[in-house]
Amino acid sequence: MNENNNRVNKSVINWFPGHMAKTYRLLKDEIKNIDIVYELVDARIPKSSKIKDIDNLIKDKLRILIMTKSDLCDLKVTKKWVKFYEEQGYKVLLVDLKNEASYQEIIKYTHELTKDIQIKRQEKGLKGKEIRALVIGIPNVGKSTLINKLTKRKSANVENRPGVTQHLTYLKTNAGIIVLDTPGILWPKIDNETIALNIASTGGIKKEVLNIDEVCVYILNFLYQNYPSLLKEKYDIINNDVEDMYRVIAKKIGAIKNDEVDYYRVSMKVYNDIITEKIKGITFDIWE
Ligand code: G4P
Repeated sequence: MNENNNRVNKSVINWFPGHMAKTYRLLKDEIKNIDIVYELVDARIPKSSKIKDIDNLIKDKLRILIMTKSDLCDLKVTKKWVKFYEEQGYKVLLVDLKNEASYQEIIKYTHELTKDIQIKRQEKGLKGKEIRALVIGIPNVGKSTLINKLTKRKSANVENRPGVTQHLTYLKTNAGIIVLDTPGILWPKIDNETIALNIASTGGIKKEVLNIDEVCVYILNFLYQNYPSLLKEKYDIINNDVEDMYRVIAKKIGAIKNDEVDYYRVSMKVYNDIITEKIKGITFDIWE
């Protein structure tokens, strides 16, 4: 069934470095002008979507760890991750970027955290400044959504392709904050297969480069182990044999002919059910 079992890892590792190095260099130059960094992670994968070597770039800049997609995660598990990061000194906001209130929360917290910058300016007789923010994170964590909404930009033309961050400009918001117009797209260190599969399962890797069967088998096994009632509710699956699972889903969606299962269709169905938010309430980074 799996033509190329290593495709997830290999593609991820080979696909990003050039792009990442360029973005990294640009941001390294620009970071001195930044007052606050919005580091975005996906609340379903608070560990896997975190860029590990980001501290060298951000150094001592103020930072908010924004966990997006709170509406899609398993709050019970993700809140443990929130606590974990808070205990390490992070300022964390768990948000749903589809909800207006989240933006007010981000703006309010930004002003709270940058109060000292403004006080220092006042003491020097300077007027208050607009706070310069940088949005950073791996693909698909909501960077463009956040930038577009904060700056009321209509088009979502923040692209994920190499070179796009070459011309750095800032966009105004009407909240005393200006945002770097293109986000810092960086990649986490994929040092194990689970991280790659977690990112793949939540839509962070283009499906064209994925071995979709491998991702689906991972999702089904993960659900069986961690969310069995969800598996039962969505697909009527009650046992953990992968072949059986495929067969049950294939029957449900008519992807079986002459007793032959169309594995690809089943895999796409499961993958898309997560991507299109038909299956939610899952956090892939388990808390142990
Ligand atoms: P990126 O720039 O970091 O790559 O991410 P982007 O903003 O493009 O967001 C990726 C997808 O995640 C978008 O969906 C976006 O709407 C969705 N998204 C972002 N934040 C949240 C959140 O907090 N909750 C939920 N449920 N979804 C969120 P899309 O289908 O690719 O685009 P669209 O059709 O929504 O525009």
